Amino acid sequence: MDKQFRKTVIAGNWKMNMTPSAASAFIKTLAPMVADADCEVVLCVPAIDIPAAVDAAKGTNIHIGAENVHFEEKGAYTGEISADMLVDAGVEYVIVGHSERRQYFAETDETVNKRTKAALSRNLKTIVCVGETLTQREQGITEETVSLQTKIALGGVTEEQMKNIIIAYEPVWAIGTGKTATADQADEVCGIIRGVIAGLYGEAVAKATTVQYGGSMNAKNAAELLSKVNVDGGLIGGASLKTEDFTVIVKNG
Ligand code: 13P
Repeated sequence: MDKQFRKTVIAGNWKMNMTPSAASAFIKTLAPMVADADCEVVLCVPAIDIPAAVDAAKGTNIHIGAENVHFEEKGAYTGEISADMLVDAGVEYVIVGHSERRQYFAETDETVNKRTKAALSRNLKTIVCVGETLTQREQGITEETVSLQTKIALGGVTEEQMKNIIIAYEPVWAIGTGKTATADQADEVCGIIRGVIAGLYGEAVAKATTVQYGGSMNAKNAAELLSKVNVDGGLIGGASLKTEDFTVIVKNG
């Protein structure tokens, strides 16, 4: 499965960090540092930071993403944000199904699927997160877990829409713990995900789909992780909050 067929995407996920003014200052500092990147550079930011981030990223190679999207077009959903709103605000990417959403906000495979379809209907580039918990890894059901999550998330997604899908493999036990999956573990599971896509859409689509790794990726381990044939980028939490560290990861992308 040759890497040249797909885009390497290095995406930050700021989570609930950075005020709008901090976001603006950060992006202005980062932009010249990553201007010559060979990969796609994305920052997924808190909803309130989006206008400041989009403004600061104008004229640069940094693309702005959101961290979630609601599945309905509009209506009585207090506190939620629709795909139309994101697009109108200048957002290009969106994360769906992050394990923190699944864990703390009752996200299920079904709602991840609904959010994925809502995002795709507005042509947002959609980063779908999948990953096993430590218990699931110890039970030997990593393959089954990520396969199931991937299949359900992609239910009803057309082959044409797959151009806007990125899958992020994020083992829950590696997120924010400093415990990274080994490069071989990341490669193996990203390969399993690619196999699921091949089963659903055929080899050509599988070959063209970006599959990222996320979970304690940092300036030190990025080169090894990103050298793996099935790892087409990273979804980065903590290290995306530091311009130097994020730049090192981007340079390895
Ligand atoms: P950390 O890089 O902080 O482990 O977070 C990973 C993540 O959850 C990205 O979405």
